[in-house]
Amino acid sequence: MKTTLQRLPWIVASALALAIGLYALRFVQADASLLPPGLRANFQAHPIAFTAHTTAGALALLAAPLQLLSGLRSRRPRVHRWTGRLYFAACLIGGVAGLRIAFGTAYGPVAVAGFSGLALAWLATTTAGFMAAREGDYERHRAWMLRSVALTFAAVTIRLQLAGIVAFRLDFATGYAAASWLCWLPNLVLAEWWIRKRAAPRTAVPAAQPETTRPPAE
Ligand code: HEM
Repeated sequence: MKTTLQRLPWIVASALALAIGLYALRFVQADASLLPPGLRANFQAHPIAFTAHTTAGALALLAAPLQLLSGLRSRRPRVHRWTGRLYFAACLIGGVAGLRIAFGTAYGPVAVAGFSGLALAWLATTTAGFMAAREGDYERHRAWMLRSVALTFAAVTIRLQLAGIVAFRLDFATGYAAASWLCWLPNLVLAEWWIRKRAAPRTAVPAAQPETTRPPAE
């Protein structure tokens, strides 16, 4: 049984995911005036891709915390499976549409590359996680889905970073281009560290017992 302290990272991350997910759902109205001014031209050039991206991205962000709950996985596997299918479909739609609008960003080639890299990594990790589940390899499934969720969480980290850029009065265009990379690369490194940390004790080979401590043969 986990303590509240052990659950704290999940609680904080889920609250942030819920807030940003609900914020993003309002763009389902496809109303350019709801967007920050710097993103309106991109929306007007690709309204369908933009709306598909924000809506599917929001659903992925809302589903992700549920998928991480080990209690739900073991007690309600059907719920985990169906929410997982919703998450997979949302990431595919959000990722393909995200790749399309990545080329429409007004913040230059560094941001185009950053968002495109994120979209491709999101599509690749989520697909790898889904395939692993279909093959019944749940250890691999878990690892790829953790990487995928870390990338989904880029929607949260970029907004925290943009808030920091505004709060510290940094140059917004430069900060935005930097954030298109910094919103996901550290998440991926953190997820990788966590996956390896969790895997280490399970794969460690127990040291051979010295001859003297072995129980006598029957
Ligand atoms: C992980 C892969 C993702 C990629 C590659 C991506 C890419 C993008 C791009 C390129 C833009 C337009 C930026 C511009 O015009 O400068 C954008 C905007 C947006 N994205 Fe994503 N995104 C991703 C994930 C998400 C998720 C999971 C959500 C869910 C909340 C989301 C919600 C939004 C929203 C609401 C906007 C509108 C801008 C804003 O209000 O800040 N995105 N995204």
